[in-house]
Amino acid sequence: CGIVGYVGKQSAQDVVIEGLRRLEYRGYDSAGVALVADGEIASAKKAGKLANLEAELAANPLPESDTGIGHTRWATHGGPTDVNAHPHLSASGRVALVHNGIIENFAALKAELEAAGVVLKSETDTEVVAQLLGIEVDGGADVAEALRTICRRLEGAFTLVAVDAQQPGRVVAARRNSPLVVGVGEGENFIGSDVAAFIEHTREAVELGQDQMVEITADAWTVTDFDGNPAEVRPYHVDWDLSAAQKDGFDWFMRKEIHEQPRALADTLLGRYATDGSLTLDEIRIATSELRSIQRIVIIGCGTAHYAGMVAKYAIEHWTRIPCEVELASEFRYRDPIVGPQTLVVAISQSGETADTLMAIRHAREQGSKVLAICNTNGSTIPRESDAVIYTHAGPEIGVASTKGFLTQVLACYLLGLYLAQVKSTKFGEEIVAIMHELETMPELVQEVLDNQQQVLELAADFADEPSVLFLGRHVGFPVALEGALKLKELAYIHAEGFAAGELKHGPIAVIDQDLPVFVVVPPRGRDMLHDKVVSNIQEIRARGARTIVLAEQDDEAVEQYADVLIRLPKVQTLLQPLVATVPLQIFACELATQKGHDVDQPRNLAKSVTVE
Ligand code: G6P
Repeated sequence: CGIVGYVGKQSAQDVVIEGLRRLEYRGYDSAGVALVADGEIASAKKAGKLANLEAELAANPLPESDTGIGHTRWATHGGPTDVNAHPHLSASGRVALVHNGIIENFAALKAELEAAGVVLKSETDTEVVAQLLGIEVDGGADVAEALRTICRRLEGAFTLVAVDAQQPGRVVAARRNSPLVVGVGEGENFIGSDVAAFIEHTREAVELGQDQMVEITADAWTVTDFDGNPAEVRPYHVDWDLSAAQKDGFDWFMRKEIHEQPRALADTLLGRYATDGSLTLDEIRIATSELRSIQRIVIIGCGTAHYAGMVAKYAIEHWTRIPCEVELASEFRYRDPIVGPQTLVVAISQSGETADTLMAIRHAREQGSKVLAICNTNGSTIPRESDAVIYTHAGPEIGVASTKGFLTQVLACYLLGLYLAQVKSTKFGEEIVAIMHELETMPELVQEVLDNQQQVLELAADFADEPSVLFLGRHVGFPVALEGALKLKELAYIHAEGFAAGELKHGPIAVIDQDLPVFVVVPPRGRDMLHDKVVSNIQEIRARGARTIVLAEQDDEAVEQYADVLIRLPKVQTLLQPLVATVPLQIFACELATQKGHDVDQPRNLAKSVTVE
């Protein structure tokens, strides 16, 4: 989501709306604004693009004001409707609040409010915070003090920005696990999710740290921690232009999205797992009894989403012992597939709008199957037409080539697998706890891969003239190889192919010679022979003179002598390796395309969501 706050000499409404326009890339399914005027909150909010809100404001103008907040939403809790759009007001209407993030303990707080007789208007976690804040302020607390008190009770991720009708000229904001930047002007101050919100007004910025809050007036800004103690912050000067600011200083949205993956994974995990080992996937509205009767799972998707499904097959079958197939959505319907009430169809789609996938789920439902969507876009068509949905919380993906979409799809599939295992009792509490613990370390491990990317960037510089590249992997490394090849085709326009390493000897080895570089994803060393077999494959490739670029876990010494280039991966169990192994391949393709001068965010001939079959 995008968030703006303003106090100062200009029209707050104009500054806020302009800020929202600059932040629209962060979310675009609803927008709203709240102003403080004449001791009251004046607000307007609308589902859909910002233009809808502007039309509403033109038809029903709000009073002039120097104090305002605004929000452009990318829905997580509650679909994209007018009512669910931000700002949310307290019951008395005195406080207005906007929020970015997910409040993890929202159900408990909501129950508390309902027990106290508060009637909630929306389905959002945000309104719960607005109501709590309203109760504090109505009870006589100062709005900054009230926000501090509430923040100490919240779990999860949030940036909160609020105004009090009785405190014109003042905006308060707080953050945990979600971004918040202050823009420092002359006779005016700004709050934004990022500097794009205010860069046309000022380039002086202050970034808030974890668990900090800020109060702005026209002439001052004050940062404290959640206990009210003064906090240290570092003001800085922004020397980016607007388009770089929207990309957080990265050259491409894709590169920014690659770097957002640790946070995207953490957000997708957020609130879905209790420390006793039980998983809660609230959005699975299929009865447990029905889930227990599932005899077969069919996963469908297109492009990158299809590869996420291939990874899922290995994990879901292994954990649940339910037979699982993966199929291209575009092939599914036309081969008259055998599906029925005991088949669960899992549709993976970042956009939720891909026509091939949509047609496939319609067909599956006609045959009586239950459909579960794994989707990144709240309220899009595929989840709407499915029986259940697990949302990935990657945030809007702008780059056409999917990156954080893919990683969070894979993670959501793991969660689904573990959930089904829990339901079917093929895995028990402590085994699930162990895997969940490992999943919880993934954001950190992906960050480690990002921190070590220099080698991959340098490698890309050598590849500008390569006409063709091969990618090999086995087990879950096979879909990783396919994804690596797809990224290279999409972005660098280089012919690339992914193969199952075991298939090498059945054909692809014929094309191997000194002119064909080969990437090999090596599985972690386990009890099975998988690792050693792939190491043998590398030797076979080496023997034919090809250059080998090997991705292997940290202390895997067996591969050293056969690798021309060795990319080290953090140690994880085999099934989870795609989360770390895919990242260097994304970086490689992004960098190579950049070096070749291509438009990375909008590769030729491709579209972000393909709504024709
Ligand atoms: C398009 C995009 C791909 C994407 C595929 C599936 O072809 O270019 O990057 O993987 O659609 O998109 P979806 O939104 O359904 O995940």
